[in-house]
Amino acid sequence: MSYEIPYFSFDKMNSDTGEDLSLAFREIMDSKWYVLGRHLAAFENEFAEYIGVRYAIGVGNGFDALRISLESLGLKKGDEVILPSLTFIATLLAVIHTGAKPVLADVNPETFLMDYKSVKSLISTKTKAIIPVQLYGCPVDVHGIQKHIKDKELVIVEDFAQSVGAEIKGGKTGSFGRINAASFYPTKTLGALGDGGIITTNDRELADRCRSLRNYGFTDDGQHTTIGYNSRLDEMQAAFLSIKIRWLDIWINERRSIAEKYRINLAGIPGLKLPEYQRSALPAHHIFPVLSKKREALRKHLQAAGIETRVHYGTPLHLHNSMRYLGYSKGSIPETEKISERELSLPIYPGLTDDKINFICEIIDRFQRK
Ligand SMILES: Cc1ncc(COP(=O)(O)O)c(C=O)c1O
Repeated sequence: MSYEIPYFSFDKMNSDTGEDLSLAFREIMDSKWYVLGRHLAAFENEFAEYIGVRYAIGVGNGFDALRISLESLGLKKGDEVILPSLTFIATLLAVIHTGAKPVLADVNPETFLMDYKSVKSLISTKTKAIIPVQLYGCPVDVHGIQKHIKDKELVIVEDFAQSVGAEIKGGKTGSFGRINAASFYPTKTLGALGDGGIITTNDRELADRCRSLRNYGFTDDGQHTTIGYNSRLDEMQAAFLSIKIRWLDIWINERRSIAEKYRINLAGIPGLKLPEYQRSALPAHHIFPVLSKKREALRKHLQAAGIETRVHYGTPLHLHNSMRYLGYSKGSIPETEKISERELSLPIYPGLTDDKINFICEIIDRFQRK
């Protein structure tokens, strides 16, 4: 089905960068060097500088970024890792693949982000790591979590797949955890033309371990010391991302201005709830979520008006069939479940015009007041 207003569009970003991307494609094809070369090294430096960390390690996708980050910490069977139940399934799968036990936290009903009171109640002697997910591009107050756990030896690993470019208290997401993971899935704030991911850290030892893990477990001198993977961000994607990162702040500012218009136009509409942002947060607005108890009917109503929407996420992680073995049931993680039943994601992307935003808001307003 084609929509008058699609949920997402690459048009503006492709038109901003298209010529440069084509030139890069030609240059790399002619260079005949496609994996682990100078374009990856250059992009890793640019990304590390942008985020404000010492090291960035490009990998094949966001899932691998998480899995390799967690594995570099030496997690083992019996260790526990706390993460929110309201996130994309990759966060949970990455934990499961390390052999550690995932422990699912609830979210704050006002911010829709992982709630540190819930996290605190789940910390045990076996907890080794906590994964704040910067959901929708909205930064979690990582400093708040750090304050609560400062006397414990727990590692924070940010999943900033949805928030590349977001800031809180003057720092970029992806710079707060001991090691952090992001995705360059095409629709993300910084998207590749295919799959891609990256790990950020200030810890040299962890960076070296991740570099080895992404390349089968080889070290720079050709020794094989770890059981690794093949997960390398290729030269093409790295070069494309080097071009796109120059536009990132411009695109994020556009997303912020769209979000601001939504917030103004949707304020006070009965039965509609918008997330609150953490103090001093500058979200990257990968997703713009609203909550409505009449979510399915609202979605259909928007669809009939030619407006495409999405749901993030209709099933919380703990209620997926595959996760039954974790022992959760309906009602186990209540705030998350409420959001899953009510969340609707509105179109947001560079190039979305004021007319379209106003039209979307009018349709929502009319429906909610019925
Ligand atoms: C929160 C979150 N974590 C991890 C991932 C995994 O990234 P990828 O799709 O690049 O594997 C995604 C995106 O899809 C995500 O939204």
